[in-house]
Amino acid sequence: MEPQHFATAILAAGKGTRLKSKRAKVLHSIAGKPLLQHVLDAVLSVTRPDQVFVVVGHQAEEVERAVGATGVHFVLQMQQLGTGHAVQCLRDSVSGLGDLLVLSGDVPLIRPETIEQLGNFHQAQQAAMTILTARPENPFGYGRVVRVSPTSPEVAAIVEQKALAADQQYIGEINSGIYVFRIDALYRHIDSLQANNAHGEYYLTDMAAILRAAGERVVAFEIGDATEVLGANTIAEMMDLDAAMRMQSARRLMAEGVTIHRPETCVIDAAVTVGADTILEPFVQLLGNTRIGEDCRIRSYSVIQDSTIGSGVLIHNGCVLDGATISDGAFIGPFAHLRPGSQIGREAHVGNFVEIKNARVGDKSKANHLTYLGDAAIGSGCNIGAGVITCNYDGVNKHPTKIGDRVFVGSNSTLVAPVALEDDSYIAAASCITEPVPAGALALGRSRQTVKSGWVKQRRAAQQRKKDG
Ligand code: UD1
Ligand code: CA
Repeated sequence: MEPQHFATAILAAGKGTRLKSKRAKVLHSIAGKPLLQHVLDAVLSVTRPDQVFVVVGHQAEEVERAVGATGVHFVLQMQQLGTGHAVQCLRDSVSGLGDLLVLSGDVPLIRPETIEQLGNFHQAQQAAMTILTARPENPFGYGRVVRVSPTSPEVAAIVEQKALAADQQYIGEINSGIYVFRIDALYRHIDSLQANNAHGEYYLTDMAAILRAAGERVVAFEIGDATEVLGANTIAEMMDLDAAMRMQSARRLMAEGVTIHRPETCVIDAAVTVGADTILEPFVQLLGNTRIGEDCRIRSYSVIQDSTIGSGVLIHNGCVLDGATISDGAFIGPFAHLRPGSQIGREAHVGNFVEIKNARVGDKSKANHLTYLGDAAIGSGCNIGAGVITCNYDGVNKHPTKIGDRVFVGSNSTLVAPVALEDDSYIAAASCITEPVPAGALALGRSRQTVKSGWVKQRRAAQQRKKDG
């Protein structure tokens, strides 16, 4: 299609009554991205943003905000009187242009290649309306396409599920809700739409019969794999699409040399990348903008979001990573929580029940057990003992902890920030550190132990005397 004469509409004004949700349907996410964003991304890879019109209505502001800043136009459909009415609302925006591609905000798996093929078919057929159709396993609920004859590309009508006559129940070809219209023909006849149907709405689907009755050419373009045009009207349908998309991501990664055990149990977002020879165990979630290198192992029940992981990294079971950066050869977990701003150096170890936030752990440093490190910079080759806590928060402000290279922090020490431990310093176990520790020094921040010899025997004797009265 000639790009300058071409416009695209995405219908996204409906409430999504069948979802029974407070949130507008097109804002619900599958594969980590709102339904509408999936459609927009497909459209924007074949057309310019300023040629795209998104029809919004229900929760219009939230919908606009969710997809904001892409440079597309939003057109308000004040009352949601049906898909035909939604397209009527676009009349002024697209008048004078050549063709209008119409998509549904709730048909998210559509691929850019298919959109292009549909456009080309429409042009070659010189049609006033071209309908993208498919034959899914179960056509129930969709509008059905009534062809003029079984072998003809021409369509006589689209009939909605509730209006199917007895002899139309068996039609397997569905309307995807994606069409191309010749704009002059569409708007010359769109006011013929009537709302005399089961929902009292103006159905865009009725344009097929209206245009044909007006002597215009209406054709179907059928695609082989119906998955791409499945709609999401209920939570269950949405989760089917979610599973289909996640499986696509898993297959993409496996094709690139990643081993995924039980891929159907893993949740992998579309943008995630993983290097060859990395192994994902069952029930792993890789979300958002996560990048993982080669030769890693991600063990079961780890949830990794927006994180960058180098090569040769072992993430043990049950870790939660969000906005973390992990360098090559590091060991994490089991049960570690790495919050935003965690930076773990090469071959560093972050072990059981360790929480890290906005902190750098240098190369080959170890914090293996039960530790909280927040707002801290830790050099290389350090040993952070079990139970070490950075006290970074005084109830009002956050303060930094600085630890140099090769520092040994004994178990159960408390580091009251702001505080600095210089290179090669040594903190005795169970110290409470409130003052700076110079390089190479030993700091003991605990009271001396007292030993009372024979105390137990004396106490028992005293208790016995009391009993005997
Ligand atoms: C529609 C088609 C049906 C097709 C199916 C494919 C009609 C009448 N039926 O049915 O033939 O098989 O899609 O998935 O078109 N919308 C608005 N404004 C409105 C109403 C709806 O913008 O006033 C938007 C919705 O937000 C949604 C899209 O249009 O994104 C489709 O509406 P929906 O109610 O889901 O139509 P279906 O019943 O699925
Ligand atoms: Ca729908």
